[in-house]
Amino acid sequence: MHSLIIFASGKGSNAQAIIDYFKNNGLAKVSLIVSNKANAGVLNIAEKERIPSMIVDKAMMNSDELVQQLQAYNPSFIVLAGFLWKISQSLVKAFPEQIINIHPALLPKYGGKGMYGHNVHEAVIATGEKESGITIHYVDEVYDNGSKILQAYCPVMAGDTADALAERIHKLEHFFYPRTIEYLLENI
Ligand code: GAR
Repeated sequence: MHSLIIFASGKGSNAQAIIDYFKNNGLAKVSLIVSNKANAGVLNIAEKERIPSMIVDKAMMNSDELVQQLQAYNPSFIVLAGFLWKISQSLVKAFPEQIINIHPALLPKYGGKGMYGHNVHEAVIATGEKESGITIHYVDEVYDNGSKILQAYCPVMAGDTADALAERIHKLEHFFYPRTIEYLLENI
């Protein structure tokens, strides 16, 4: 059984979708949830699902100690699901091609520092884009830059609010993120 580690900073709806998808499928399980926020909703999910969790601070994020702690879970993938902080060089080096991220827009557009959650949707709407979507990609040393694994599209409707667009994007994410992880696991 493959082990997955999820990093998340927020509500954790993607984490929940991944946990649910693999719950009865025998291919993988989420063995650890890491957050940088002590009050993140994703930590309630960890508790409810009886999955170990860990809170990291900035110093910890750049430490060899974190690498060792994560290695103890022998993860096939580290899955970023709404994680706010940049991933350190030491993590990228320790887990080459094993860290993936989901971004709520069609990279390379609307990526980079500060482009997180609602900021992304507001920028997409303000620019008058007719479509948006999601990008699942490998994580390298540069923010939102690693090679793409999958993109999926949805329309931006006239009069969309950031909330309405976020909801449409979340539906895409919840469908495609677990299935993309499954695809990767079956092909390593
Ligand atoms: C997701 O939409 C994810 O794509 C986005 O944060 C949201 C987290 O939602 N990630 C980024 O913006 C990364 N730059 P969730 O906590 O409900 O899974």
